[in-house]
Parts: sequence; C-alpha cells; structure tokens
Amino acid sequence: NKQEPLKVIISGAPASGKGTQCQLITQKYGLVHIAAGDLLRAEISSGSANGKRAKEYMEKGQLVPKEIVFMMVKERLLQSDSQENGWLLDGFPRRLSQATALKEIGFQPDIFILLEVRSLRDTKYDMVAEDNLVERVVGRRLDPVTGRIYHLKYSPPETEEIAARLTQRCDDTEEMVKLRLQTHHQNVESVLSMYEDITIKINGNASKEDVFSQIDTALTTLIEQRNATLGSM
Ligand code: AP5
Repeated sequence: NKQEPLKVIISGAPASGKGTQCQLITQKYGLVHIAAGDLLRAEISSGSANGKRAKEYMEKGQLVPKEIVFMMVKERLLQSDSQENGWLLDGFPRRLSQATALKEIGFQPDIFILLEVRSLRDTKYDMVAEDNLVERVVGRRLDPVTGRIYHLKYSPPETEEIAARLTQRCDDTEEMVKLRLQTHHQNVESVLSMYEDITIKINGNASKEDVFSQIDTALTTLIEQRNATLGSM
C-alpha cells in the first residue's frame, strides 16, 4: 500500500520562475529536479559534440533538436534517485514531439504545473508578458557556488560576498529573451493539449513566496487525494 513517488512537470515562459519554484518544491518535497536547460548548459561546458550543437540553437533562442535533449532527460529520469524519490521535470517537454516521446517510454506525470506571468500593462495573456519577463531576465543573477537564483531587485543576494561572485547567463538579454518567448508561444499550446486533464494554472505574477504557496496547495491536495484512494482500496 505504499504511496508512489510524485511525478511533476513544471512549465512556463522564459523567466516565469520555474527554476525559483523548483528550488522551493525540492526543499519541501524531496523530488529530483531535472532541468532541461541545466542539462544542456552542463553538456556545453563539457565541450562535447552534442554540447556544441546545442549551443548553436540556444544562442538563437530556438529549441535544441529532440534527439539531444530527450536522450539527456531520459537518462536522468531513469536514474535510481528519480525513480525512488519522484521527479520534477523543468523545461521538458517543450513541443508535442517531446511530450509524445516521454509518453512512449512510460513517463506520465501526476500533475502539470503551468506558471503564467501576465503583462504589467496588459491583462491579456496573448499580448505577451514581455515587459515583466524581460525585467526578470535582465536582473537575474546566479550563484555558481550554491546554484541559487537571484534577482537584483526582487531577490537580492544576502551578503556582499555572494554579490561579488554572481554570474549572468549569456542568453539573458532583452533581445534573446524575446526570441525565447516567441519559441515558447509557438509551442506551449500543443504541449498543453497532451496534459489537459492534469494541468493546473498558477498565477506567476505574485511574489515567489505566494507563487509557491499556490503550488504547495496543489501538491498537498494531490497527495491527500492519492492517500484517500489508497486508504479506500
Ligand atoms: P531554460 O534554461 O529552461 O530557460 P527558460 O525556459 O528560458 O527559463 P529560465 O531558466 O530563463 O527561467 P525560469 O522560468 O527558470 O525563471 P527563474 O526562476 O530563473 O532553457 C534555455 C534554452 O535551452 C532554451 O532557450 C532552449 O534553447 C534550450 N532548451 C531548454 N529545454 C529544451 C527542450 N525541452 N527542448 C529543446 N531545447 C530546450 O526566474 C527568472 C528571474 O526572475 C530570476 O532572477 C528570479 O529571481 C526572478 N523571479 C522568479 N520568481 C519571481 C517572482 N515571483 N517575482 C519576481 N521575480 C521573480
């Protein structure tokens, strides 16, 4: 009667807060965080042929070919810690063919979290929340020592020492994020169509604590529902 580990996908526009929320979710739920973007950046750092190929696409804000990214994600999902503790997949799948490939190897999430960040000027989602997301991207900084994500305005580093060592991602410019957003908007609907019945939309416009509290409620509810089902068996 043991509860199966949780399987979660988190999706959302570039800089919508996926990585930030994943740090909070893993802290509380102990899931293994598998971020497609991080896997790709590690591959680039390794200097491999796949890394070199991936870089060409990432520099243009385009999606890396499926065979490269799927192979890495699949390998990580199959490792024993992901199997035992459950997984939190971030930034994958990003197009329908990726979602289909994931399903074909038997990986079906329990919940699909969509982070929605609307525009500061316009409440219509289709109008692209560019101004807000651009501000988040341009102010983002990363701590290479702890892996923590900061923002100069919204989530500033705690000490001078941390501030001095922060780095910036090379695709975090206004121009690049607009290209990444375009790619996101071209693909998001088709991916959503695969997970319609398990999708939960979260308002990403709130503070990171408030966004997490919405996600936390959704995950707790899901676990309670599963416990109730197990109990009645
Ligand atoms: P990836 O690394 O996944 O980038 P992304 O989707 O553009 O997402 P980000 O990492 O930029 O943002 P995030 O949502 O994690 O936001 P964060 O929490 O950091 O992908 C990079 C590239 O790799 C892609 O362009 C593509 O080329 C390739 N790739 C990746 N996956 C692929 C796939 N499946 N197939 C093919 N190619 C793929 O937050 C952003 C900033 O905002 C931070 O500074 C943070 O402090 C701040 N912030 C967060 N939450 C809040 C809040 N609530 N209020 C205020 N500020 C906040």
